[in-house]
Amino acid sequence: MQNMSRAGTLAVSLVILAAACRIDDTSRQKASGPDSTATSAAHAAFDPATWRPPADSEIPGDSLGASIRRGLALVMHTADSLPEYAPGALSCTNCHINGGRTADAAPLTGSYARFPKYMDRTGAVIGLADRVNYCFTRSLAGNKLPVESREMEDILSYIAWLSSGVPVGEGKKIDGSEGLRAMPGEMVGDRTRGQAVFTAKCVACHGPNGAGNPAIPPGIPALWGPRSFSVGASMARQGKAASFIWHNMPYGLGKSLTQQEAFDVAAFVTSQPRPNSPGKEQDWPTGGAPADVPYATQGHAAFLPPPLLPRANPNRAIVDPPASVRRKAASR
Ligand code: HEC
Ligand code: HEC
Repeated sequence: MQNMSRAGTLAVSLVILAAACRIDDTSRQKASGPDSTATSAAHAAFDPATWRPPADSEIPGDSLGASIRRGLALVMHTADSLPEYAPGALSCTNCHINGGRTADAAPLTGSYARFPKYMDRTGAVIGLADRVNYCFTRSLAGNKLPVESREMEDILSYIAWLSSGVPVGEGKKIDGSEGLRAMPGEMVGDRTRGQAVFTAKCVACHGPNGAGNPAIPPGIPALWGPRSFSVGASMARQGKAASFIWHNMPYGLGKSLTQQEAFDVAAFVTSQPRPNSPGKEQDWPTGGAPADVPYATQGHAAFLPPPLLPRANPNRAIVDPPASVRRKAASR
């Protein structure tokens, strides 16, 4: 019964959402179309300030709960569970900390109510499964997970459950929904100073060659090298890495570095060799790439590009852009 009314709410809101996204992303919140009474009531009752994601102990005991539980295991132990798709030393929750609940670490709370969404990096509206596959192919430097697979269904079940009670379209109001939080724009890191920060504050866990260490609980992920995130990941940008590091690292001691130290160590980490990201030059197809993107795109020169390592399966590392973007690229 609960599921049925949610499905009804979804159908109504998705129509409104799709209409809003076609105009542009920022106008979505202002979009007001024909609305059902049930949808209006859900939106009126929703308070993003008091909303909390459910705890793992609240996963239901039914078949849906079993799927959510499998999805949780997949995001926590991605590399162990799906080595063919996540061949590196990273799992989703190494970045989306605490099962995706940490507002300072690109939270997945509310994501289910934020998609489909316009992504300027793609230059198009994309759905949640494609967004998950961007993280498989770029952040995990892995391979695209088939959208029809049970594993993708389970991951989406988990992300949907994590957004329980967030009406579609209201996901943008959840704390942290903008992704890794903006840091002061004018700050620039110094990789030599950053190396000293790394030696003092990071090497004990992440290791002298940045490869991480599965033997140290909860399992230390790789910061660079063939088993880390690719150059096409948001984390490969100095400003995004500085934000993640300043808010969350050293592990358990977030916000203990100065912001300058965070930029310095981010400059050091992002200057190290990492997997290539095939097709990355098609990003921001209409221009406007942020200044710290470490590869060249339309109208943008690479910012401090790191050495790149080849990918085993370059064809499986690309999430095909929507047809509208392909047409624009072809006519350029
Ligand atoms: C190396 C770090 C890293 C890893 C590993 C990673 N992600 Fe991400 N992910 C990010 C960052 C950073 C963002 C947000 C980008 C930004 O700040 O704009 C993001 C965004 C997302 C989003 C969009 C969130 C939203 O609501 O806009 C989803 C969904 C997502 N990731 C799912 C996953 C899944 C599932 C996995 C594992 C298969 C994964 N991610 C692995 C760093 C990572
Ligand atoms: C006490 C051990 C520890 C220390 C010290 C530490 N980290 Fe981490 N780091 C972790 C763990 C554990 C995770 C994964 C978090 C999780 O899964 O909840 C992580 C995740 C990361 C990530 C995201 C995942 C990845 O591999 O890219 C980055 C970036 C990172 N750390 C950078 C740093 C930097 C820079 C420092 C030094 C300022 C540092 N860490 C110090 C344990 C540590």
